[in-house]
Amino acid sequence: MCGIVGYIGSRQAAEICLSGLRRLEYRGYDSAGVAVIRDGQLQVRKVVGKLANLTAALRESPLPGTTGIGHTRWATHGKPSVTNSHPHLSCDGRIAVVHNGIIENYGELRNQLEAEGHQFRSVTDTEVMPHLVEKYYQGDLREAVRRAILDLEGAFAFGVICADEPEQLIAARRFSPLVVGIGEGENYIASDMGAIRPETDQVYVIGDDELALITPDDIELTDLELNPIDRQVFTIPWPPEAAQKSGHKYFMHKEIHEQAEAMHACLAGRLSNPDEPIILEGLGMSEQDIRNLQKVVFTACGTAFHAGMVGQFIMESLAQVPAQVDLAAEFQVKDPVVLDNTLAVIISQSGETADSLLALRDLKGKGARIASVLNVVDSSIARESDGVVYIQAGPEIGVASTKAYTLQVLTLELLALHFAEVRQSAPPEQIRALKAALLAVPDQVAELLRREPEVKQVAARYYEMDDALYLGRGINLPSAMEGALKLKEISYIHAEGYSAGEMKHGPIALVDPELFTVAIAVNGQVYEKMTGNIQEIKAREGPVIGVANDGDEVIAQQCNDVLWVPSCPELISPITVAIPLQLLAYHMADMRGEDIDQPRNLAKTVTVE
Ligand code: F6R
Repeated sequence: MCGIVGYIGSRQAAEICLSGLRRLEYRGYDSAGVAVIRDGQLQVRKVVGKLANLTAALRESPLPGTTGIGHTRWATHGKPSVTNSHPHLSCDGRIAVVHNGIIENYGELRNQLEAEGHQFRSVTDTEVMPHLVEKYYQGDLREAVRRAILDLEGAFAFGVICADEPEQLIAARRFSPLVVGIGEGENYIASDMGAIRPETDQVYVIGDDELALITPDDIELTDLELNPIDRQVFTIPWPPEAAQKSGHKYFMHKEIHEQAEAMHACLAGRLSNPDEPIILEGLGMSEQDIRNLQKVVFTACGTAFHAGMVGQFIMESLAQVPAQVDLAAEFQVKDPVVLDNTLAVIISQSGETADSLLALRDLKGKGARIASVLNVVDSSIARESDGVVYIQAGPEIGVASTKAYTLQVLTLELLALHFAEVRQSAPPEQIRALKAALLAVPDQVAELLRREPEVKQVAARYYEMDDALYLGRGINLPSAMEGALKLKEISYIHAEGYSAGEMKHGPIALVDPELFTVAIAVNGQVYEKMTGNIQEIKAREGPVIGVANDGDEVIAQQCNDVLWVPSCPELISPITVAIPLQLLAYHMADMRGEDIDQPRNLAKTVTVE
């Protein structure tokens, strides 16, 4: 969380930082600031609230200068306020720092620095950094940053500038993401590639405990002993307009509508014909490795965890390998037993989620092989994995994950089917039918997107209600949990995703005419049970929105409203079911007038534990 950018060159740094911050705002938006060097002085603007406030402040009172750093904040230490927002300055106001991450030993460092006479202005962990750099500064900014970093524990990506060295921008990282963008006569830093994509498609991805000394014409990468690092230039694989709204009101809406096309891209080269085997390049496992598997552990956070729940279900069902799914945040507070020949599948859109990365390290340390299912290329999780299968969703900017979810599920379906083929653990005709069904999914999704007006009509009937229950069972329990998460995070309607089988063990007490239930009752092994649950809710006068297969008269009669989905094998249905649930959440939130791409208290990439 928090986004950092920096620029050094001959153009106006504040403008370039601001435009980069706009593309990073998904990482946090409770305050923002920039610092620019001009005529040997540092000048700073900081505001509380979204970037629009910083844009207005800079319009009113511009900050000219060609070296600058900027920050958009998601508060961890200290409430959102001008004082607590970045950039933070040294006592003499000549060194400015932007930071993403958490400095864990800041309390101890602050006490020491205060005892040495440094005066702090904020209550943030970050502020120790400019004071440490000031303490070590003797005319060499990189050396001062290097020495400061040696004192730090925790996670960071820094951008540092100093009024005494206006032709230098120093960047460093441990654990939090950071890239250096390569221009001509100008260079950039940013928390992710998307922030600077309109400026350049050439970047260096910075590794842990690496430093970058950046001038307008040069980038020097070193480790903390100042040994040079020879890093390959990475070419950003998507065009600059991938990060634009392209006529949609919100990124979330655009991303929902990109799903059919993204699914074609995800399947391309992996599954083209039901009679051909699935190819998963990047997985890095031989057929013997797959046959030897004793256990598959899925771990992830939030929406990606829901994809992992589907993964666990299909892995057991098709590949017949014992599988488990765990929240990444829970992993660190357990001491899991890792058997020989365990595969850990880390699922993450960003590849930077701190809890997922820590779970990866834990599992790897205990001998598991790591295969990750990721979207962002060359992320921290990618670099620490033994193999990576990319979901090929393209940039996801809306804070609420949509296309990443369905593409994670699609990729996990491919993984489970691939394992089933190699292990010969499912009947060939079942594997063939599922492959054929997966090939048909992008067109079914395109059809579901054309049905948006019908979903919108349903949304209009319920958007003023304050409580919702999402029920599903079996492979669609994660669909219910994901549907509820989507609704609550963008509309602030209280929503719970529950196993329909658990209804009578508690949640049914909530049912009354003021709470609506979304019941996933597509064809399959739990269909009859779901219709029973719907009856129980209706008997208590609870309104029900069913999610059912086209033409299902039983559900049409039982429910107040129905979101229709085309028929497909139950094992694949979480993909199609997700589409109307995403649209329902989107339209309810929009009707309530919420800021859908920037829900309160959230940030897209959670780089702190
Ligand atoms: C919800 C959402 C989050 C993320 C979670 C993991 O819509 O987006 O729950 O799924 O923070 O993020 P990644 O996938 O980047 O690891």
